[in-house]
Amino acid sequence: MNATEDKLDNYRLTLNGKEFVPIMIGGMGVDISTMELAHEAARLGGIGHISDAMSPFVSDRRFKTRFSKSKAEAHKESVGSFDKSSVHFELDDLREAQQRLVRSAMEQKTGDGAVFINIMEKLTMADPQPSLETRLLAALDEGIDGITLSAGLHNNSLRMMENHPRFRDVLVGPIVSSVRALRIFLRSAKRVNRMPDYIVVEGPLAGGHLGFGEDWKKHNLEVIVDEVIAYLKENELDIPVIPAGGIFTGTDATSYIHRGASAVQVATRFTVSKECGLPERVKQKYFEAKEEQVVVNTVSPTGYPIRMLTTSPCLSSNIKPQCEPFGYVLEKGKCQYIDAYKDTPYDADGKKCPVEGKICLCHHFSKHNCYTCGHYVYRLKDTTTQLKDGSYMIPSAEWIFTDYQMSRNHEIQRAEPGQSNEHASHSSALRL
Ligand SMILES: Cc1cc2nc3c(=O)[nH]c(=O)nc-3n(C[C@H](O)[C@H](O)[C@H](O)COP(=O)(O)O)c2cc1C
Repeated sequence: MNATEDKLDNYRLTLNGKEFVPIMIGGMGVDISTMELAHEAARLGGIGHISDAMSPFVSDRRFKTRFSKSKAEAHKESVGSFDKSSVHFELDDLREAQQRLVRSAMEQKTGDGAVFINIMEKLTMADPQPSLETRLLAALDEGIDGITLSAGLHNNSLRMMENHPRFRDVLVGPIVSSVRALRIFLRSAKRVNRMPDYIVVEGPLAGGHLGFGEDWKKHNLEVIVDEVIAYLKENELDIPVIPAGGIFTGTDATSYIHRGASAVQVATRFTVSKECGLPERVKQKYFEAKEEQVVVNTVSPTGYPIRMLTTSPCLSSNIKPQCEPFGYVLEKGKCQYIDAYKDTPYDADGKKCPVEGKICLCHHFSKHNCYTCGHYVYRLKDTTTQLKDGSYMIPSAEWIFTDYQMSRNHEIQRAEPGQSNEHASHSSALRL
């Protein structure tokens, strides 16, 4: 094909015999990839993700339930203590919260695409295996189209779903950052005779937590994708590969299709869409971001590196550990933030100094105080119009989705006031 005609819309992703526009919007917690965003992807023929990060809290916000409040009340005795080993989640509440979210997302879905859920293993929730199983089964109960298994190796996740009637029908795929992680997952898949339907390969330029150590800079998505595709070929496995991390234009996406990928997973460009769950003030911070403000650090108590903007308010906080209402990353009563908080001195006025080195992930994600983002966040300002008051125009998810789908030659059509959602030709497109 002539390079100028090449666009993502020339390709389709086939999963279980069904065709999709090859664009997957990645899961972004906490409720950043909202069901409204996922619905747009599905309506346009692609795949959107909801995230189950902190689902009881998200249910409280969306449906006026009281899961976080009643958990805080039940555990109020541990508030003054650094020992949180008695704090736990009621699995019935967790199930109900997850069911409400998935049910609502599936009831309102339209179009030929699909709505998946991103389920993170590292969300340990004081009781890792039972809480993970509860979240997986609740999503299946409510008819989710697909489950993307992220933030961990998910050695037992397929087994946990094995006896559910939808186990062989639901679409399932892991997120991996290496052939090694894929090999481990496939071993567990073999044990239940259930191969994944797709494999997301996430590289070091992605947003959120990274599946690499502090040597993340040494890794390269193209190399990992080539290795994964070669490994699948060697083992005669025909499973669609979906790269993620730093895919900013439709042409970035087609370059992966030419390497043998079947679709792409993208997220950062959608963080500034109308349907994204970030508050407007935070979307503007993403637009304003400069390249030198994008860092990968180790402040997350999960132990994984995370990419964020240095302007994130969470980086200068002295908030008390919020395990009683939240506690989503507690493991055996511990969280790295509790230790960092414990060791933080008080100033001359008796006020706790800002905690260095770690953040209370639960609190700051619940408040959108952690501006996590993909590496290319600083290019977002080039995808829209700056308004007279200095703020940036917020584009619709449809606009961004269609731009990925129709763009050629690395062009991005800048969103402009007064444009309809329908994406025009690329005659006025900007080459980035
Ligand atoms: C704001 C934000 C939050 C994210 N949160 C999660 C998450 O909770 N779980 C997860 O598996 N991936 C998460 N990701 C990763 C995305 O799903 C996706 O794979 C990746 O960011 C794609 O790269 P891109 O942002 O450069 O397009 C997040 C990404 C962003 C930008």
